[in-house]
This record gives sequence, structure tokens and C-alpha cells, in this order.
Amino acid sequence: MVHKREMATEREDHLIADRRKLLLGLGVAAGSALATGIVTDRALAADDTQVTDAPASHKADVEQRVPFYGVHQAGIVTPRPANGMFVSLDVIADTPADFEKMLRLLTARVVFLTQGGTPPERDAKLPPADSGILGPEIHPDNLTITVGLGDSLFETRPWLKSLKPRHLQRMTQFKNDALVGELCHGDISLQFCSNTADTNIHALRDILANMPEYLVPRWKQEGNVPTILPKPDGTLESARNFLGFRDGSANPHSGDNALMDKVVWVGDDHDEPKWAVGGTYQAVRIVRNFVERWDRTPLGEQERIMGRKKMSGAPMDGKTEADVPDYAKDPDGKITRLDAHIRLANPRTVESQKNLILRRPFNYSNGVTKNGQLDQGLLFIAYQSDLERGFITVQKRLDGEPLEEYIKPVGGGYFFVLPGARDSGDYLGRELAEAVAAVPPTRS
Ligand code: HEM
Repeated sequence: MVHKREMATEREDHLIADRRKLLLGLGVAAGSALATGIVTDRALAADDTQVTDAPASHKADVEQRVPFYGVHQAGIVTPRPANGMFVSLDVIADTPADFEKMLRLLTARVVFLTQGGTPPERDAKLPPADSGILGPEIHPDNLTITVGLGDSLFETRPWLKSLKPRHLQRMTQFKNDALVGELCHGDISLQFCSNTADTNIHALRDILANMPEYLVPRWKQEGNVPTILPKPDGTLESARNFLGFRDGSANPHSGDNALMDKVVWVGDDHDEPKWAVGGTYQAVRIVRNFVERWDRTPLGEQERIMGRKKMSGAPMDGKTEADVPDYAKDPDGKITRLDAHIRLANPRTVESQKNLILRRPFNYSNGVTKNGQLDQGLLFIAYQSDLERGFITVQKRLDGEPLEEYIKPVGGGYFFVLPGARDSGDYLGRELAEAVAAVPPTRS
């Protein structure tokens, strides 16, 4: 008889897909998408790069352009460039008409900024159309801007309330959290990712300058991941976080569309409002790392806490980063501790397959705290089709883990990322705005 856990391991071997096979399959998909001119999520993910692979520095180019139109927004399964910035904002839109105008205007800015172009010239008596920090031409620089909506947006507007995605909620405190109010929640989230920090800042400045009547920033966290050259055989490795470990090794493969349909995207069968199909839940956490304490911790202890070997990224019972740990052979945790981060986060049982999430984090470094410690950590960003089954369940399993001695979540929030805009006649959130118009007004 095949033991439940052995079955889980076999299934997971399939999930960590053979990259070569994927590349072949996706190459065909990408080719046909280009031929028809229709950009789908297939074309967006048509690269063998896994989201959390270290960006290859030699490939970074200001002309790199991520297509904007598609079934899903970019910046989720598309490979993660070196720089990220997460901004939460409050929305000033008290009527459905204002809300629609805000969405249309935001879409137009995102299209221009991510696809590039020349800002218009204006009379010198007026403020310039562009901040100028990137010069006269705006190059796309691999920029994606991903738009999500927060719980408060729906809760504070009666005409939006009944259309709230089923699992969207205000983030509550977990056991190890020390949440700072000014770093939490928000009506709308903008995730900027590009090759350079200046491109992200430029894009934010552009949006704020063009939409002051609609958007007020609430909090912002910038981050980055190290760029590296691929190995001589062309393979890529996951980028390291500020604890020095490879981060992303066991992420579900973002190039596997069928898997992403299960793990990340809200589908027709998800019992969500119709407008939400094609979107995803975004869980964001600013997790401070106590790096001074970590750097004084013996290597063996660090590896036992994480459940992986620091330099290679291999699981405790493996040799390479891609090896899959076999917990069935280690029921007492003699090789991988039962409370190791990776074992709690994903016990790899048939049951825990439901809790897979796609992580797309950045490392942050903010300066020095009042008591003379480095303020560094992980800007944790995860995507899932069901927030409860995904992030919330995984975080509850992690509550009390030994890693907590070295980390402290201080901020973040939950958002629902809008489905993509299909073509130039479309805008982000159109189906939601149309659903608002279709709801009969409530009597006050
Ligand atoms: C500062 C905070 C964190 C650090 C330093 C950290 C670090 C790591 C590292 C080094 C790995 C192993 C490599 C990999 O598969 O990516 C890992 C795996 C993982 N982490 Fe975290 N992590 C943190 C927070 C979180 C949080 C908040 C969650 C979700 C609630 C989470 C969920 C996971 C999951 C699901 C895995 C993959 C486990 C597997 O499938 O084997 N992590 N993390």
C-alpha cells in the first residue's frame, strides 16, 4: 500500500516541474501568442525563469518591456526583477462615477509607464508633465505595476460592499506580530517592480502627480533582490534573503500555467463575485529580521531552524536546491526538525497541497533603529487564489516557530489584485465598475 505521505512526495515531484520540458511547451505558446497579437498569461510567463530566481544582471536592459494587456495583471507570475516597491494608498472616490474615473486614469498611467514613451512638452509657465528623473524618454525598464484593492475600500463604500471578494478581510495580528498602525492596510495597493529603484520611484511620482484628487499614499516599502549571472550550464538559482538563505527554492513553478490556475488565480468555480475571476489575493508583510542576532547564531542552528543548508539551499536530506525533502522517511524530525520553517510552512501531505502559495518577496534595508540595530528584513509578498487556505493557514502553522526569535512582522495588509485589462479598450477593474452600476442603490 502506498502511504499517504509517499503519494504527496510523488505528486510534488511533478509540481517542481522539469524546467526544460516547460520551456519547450511554453515556447510554442509564446510563439502563437505573438503571432495572433493576443497577450495571455501564457505569453507573460513564457520564460523558464521562476519568479524567485535571482534576476540575471547581464539581461537587465531599459528596453525590457512586460506586456500590460492580458487575462491577468503582470507582476505576479512574471519573473521578478531586481527592484520592488510596495505602496498602499487611500482612495478618494465617494461615488461609483468617481471610482470608475479613478480606475480609468490609473490604467492609463500604468500603460504609459510600463510600456514607455515621451511625456508631452508643456509651456514653461506650467509645471512639467513629468518629474524628469529619468530624462526626456521613459523607457519601460521591465516595469510592472500591479493594482490591488483593500478591505477598507469595500467596507467604507456601501455601493461596493456587496461586491467584496469572499476572503478579503482586514489583516489581524498573528502571535509574533508587533504591527505598527501606520504600516498596515489601505484602500488600494500598487506593487512596482523593475530593473532599477529609480524607475519605480519615477512611476509612483507620476501616478501621484496625475491623480492627486484620487490617491493619497499611506505607507511604502522598497526592497530589492541580488542579481547574479546564471551558472555556466545556464541554470539559475534562487535569490538569497537577508538571512543569507536562498528564498524561493520550493515555490510552485510560475511557468506552469495549470498549477498557477490552481494556486494563484481565482477561477469561475471559486464562488467569488464574477468580476473577480482572473484576479488573486495578495498578502503583504513587512517582516523585520534581527540580523545582528542571526549573525551570532551558529551555522548548524541556522540550518536547523530553516530546514535547509545555507550555501547550497538543499533540504537537510538532499544535495541540491531542487531536491525535494522526504519527510515520510523522517517522521521524528531527526534530519529536518518538525518545527523547521520549511516543514511547518509546507508539511508536504496530501492535505497541505491546498495551502500552496506563490511567494514573490524582496529584501529591504531601511537604515538604523533607535537602539542602534540595522532595520532590515523581508518585504514578503505572496499570491493565492484563496487567502484563508493560502497565506492565513500557512502563517498559523508557522506561529511559534523557532525562527520567530529572529523575525518580527511590523506591517502589511491583504489586497485583492484585479484581473487584467484585455486590450486598449479595456481598463483595470472594468467588470467591478460595471457590477457596481448594476447593483440597485440602497435606500439611506
Ligand atoms: C523573514 C521572514 C521569512 C524568511 C527569512 C523566510 C525564509 C525562507 C526560506 C529560506 C525558505 C526556504 C527556501 C524556499 O523554499 O523558499 C522558505 C520557505 C518557505 N517559506 Fe519562508 N520565510 C519567511 C517568512 C515566511 C512567511 C511569512 C511565510 C508564509 C506565511 C513563509 C512561507 C514559506 C513557504 C510556504 C516556504 C516553502 C516551504 C516548502 O515548500 O518547502 N515564509 N522561507
